[in-house]
Amino acid sequence: MTAGRFRIGDEPLRILVTAGPTREPIDPVRFISNRSSGKMGYALAEEAAARGHAVCLVSGPVSLAAPAGVTVVRVTTAEEMRRAVAARLGRSDVLIMAAAVADWRPRKPSAWKLKKAGMRMVLELERTPDILRSIRTRKGRRLHIGFAAETRDMLAEARRKLRNKGLDLIVANDVSRSDAGFEVDTNRVTLLWADGARQALPLMSKREAAGRIMDWVERLAGPKTSK
Ligand code: CTP
Repeated sequence: MTAGRFRIGDEPLRILVTAGPTREPIDPVRFISNRSSGKMGYALAEEAAARGHAVCLVSGPVSLAAPAGVTVVRVTTAEEMRRAVAARLGRSDVLIMAAAVADWRPRKPSAWKLKKAGMRMVLELERTPDILRSIRTRKGRRLHIGFAAETRDMLAEARRKLRNKGLDLIVANDVSRSDAGFEVDTNRVTLLWADGARQALPLMSKREAAGRIMDWVERLAGPKTSK
């Protein structure tokens, strides 16, 4: 299995990447969120830009610097991320959803800081939009790539998401391991394609993993060949 590389003179791809967590407000000083440093999505944006592609990074709140040559759009909530992605989809050849989107949000965020009167607090949560599902029908020839961070049944869960979200490729990782997933600089991912093929990559830096993923993005976006 080898992947083709983008060469000078090839048409650059317009790549939309999402990264980081989203934050869903409880009140002006509190929020619920996901564990995500944004490192994998930023590494992908950096790698894609270094290869000469036109990259737009829709980023949730993270403490990382904007990668060189990348347009960064900063968002906070899942709904803001959905809107930012939807607005740029038509101008993108590839969407890579590396963001850890919060799945629930407080149904009625308070306009004022909640006071800790009483011993218990019950928060009513509602689902946030599933961004990939909401744009499934607009996919057309655009490549849609997702991530699946799992703690059990990684392959089965990744396959389910690949199908449900209408993806071309999903990047799965087992976040219960200490050397892969959240906050660390390394990752151990398995790539799963819509045609049933899969490839487990060894432990490597997130930047190296981004390189392997980008090899496949370029290959899938180009003329079809076998894996
Ligand atoms: N995703 C999305 N919108 C959401 C949640 C997730 O577009 N509201 C995207 C993520 O960016 C990722 C993929 O869907 O590329 C899988 O995300 P994950 O959180 O692993 O899956 P969920 O859809 O939340 O499913 P589950 O809660 O069953 O794990």
